[in-house]
Amino acid sequence: MANVTSTWTEPSNTPLTLLLLGKGTDPASERGVDCPGDLPAPSDPDLVARATAAKAALGSRVFVLGHHYQRDEVIQFADVTGDSFKLAQQAAARPEAEFIVFCGVHFMAESADILTTPAQKVILPDLAAGCSMADMAVLGQVETAWEHFEDLGITDQIVPVTYMNSSADIKGFVGRNKGVVCTSSNAKRALDWSFEQGSKVFFLPDQHLGRNTAVLEMGFDLDDCVLYDPHKPKGGLTDEQLRNAKMILWRGHCSVHGRFTIDSVREVRERVPGVNVLVHPECRHDVVRAADYVGSTEYIIRALDAAPSGSAWAVGTELNLVRRLALAHPDKQVMFLDRTVCYCSTMNRIDLPHLVWALEELVAGRVPNVITVDEKTAHEARVALDQMLALP
Ligand code: 13P
Ligand code: SF4
Repeated sequence: MANVTSTWTEPSNTPLTLLLLGKGTDPASERGVDCPGDLPAPSDPDLVARATAAKAALGSRVFVLGHHYQRDEVIQFADVTGDSFKLAQQAAARPEAEFIVFCGVHFMAESADILTTPAQKVILPDLAAGCSMADMAVLGQVETAWEHFEDLGITDQIVPVTYMNSSADIKGFVGRNKGVVCTSSNAKRALDWSFEQGSKVFFLPDQHLGRNTAVLEMGFDLDDCVLYDPHKPKGGLTDEQLRNAKMILWRGHCSVHGRFTIDSVREVRERVPGVNVLVHPECRHDVVRAADYVGSTEYIIRALDAAPSGSAWAVGTELNLVRRLALAHPDKQVMFLDRTVCYCSTMNRIDLPHLVWALEELVAGRVPNVITVDEKTAHEARVALDQMLALP
């Protein structure tokens, strides 16, 4: 994929109102909700011992899932680590665990609740651990877009596909309209399946994963993709553009991966001759085109495990993971693609004090921060999630 030039211009990011994390409540947002409880001080020297003791006391009643972007202090307590696909599979495969403590973000915990039995409780140690990308697609906006497609008479041809990084409401919308959920590990397989069902895909909410998969893995032209902006009337598109498009991309993006630029790729190639550039498909299209390798967090981990000693790697994904990979491979030169720090602020909300608090509450017989999806939404979302788990 290196050295391919494109005349296409990257659209600017969608503006978002910033909320102070952990303060106040915005019911329409995944972020900014108060977290109840009396948290231990981050400086408490006994936090590791307390988490270890609480987990031991709970035994097989609790199962802790940890996404690869979690902090070291938290990931050490995960029974399983993984990307969002692997964690969804693992949540579904643990019917014996009474409590699933999800060290990740809100949409992942919602999916775990949908995939687990009604008797199991899914706990998110900090309710402010949301996802700015998931917040970029709100059900009302998506339904407005769909009504517009209905007016144009094109919904029969469209298969809705939503990235795992979306709310349960959006997954429910996709399930009701015979679509599928995908993750960054299976986006191509989900699109292959979708184009067997229809001739157009409505891809939510990450424009970059949708465009990168369609153009770089399925051989579509950039002109086959249009960008639906929910903040503009009719998405800012003409009827003809919508009728001709194969991929209707929602205007959403990841605020972490969206920060990597083509300049970071050029800069690292000049600074480190022979460097391999390895990025996540949530990165912008020009960055992914300029990279040598592209894949989900699990793919990135496997690529570095398989890399020869002495090789150099500039990795474009969240910093907690890149730092751990650099430490795990001292014989390889593993560096962050961008020179500026790029943690996911909401993933980082789950810290050791929140984990200790959640585990100790469970030991005390109280169940904190339960993530529950209402029955109807869960049923519809499950249709789309099961369709993903059944992809060939
Ligand atoms: P994966 O876990 O699918 O690689 O996605 C990365 C991500 O941004 C999760 O929020
Ligand atoms: Fe959301 Fe991006 Fe953070 Fe993942 S890394 S939780 S997509 S903001």
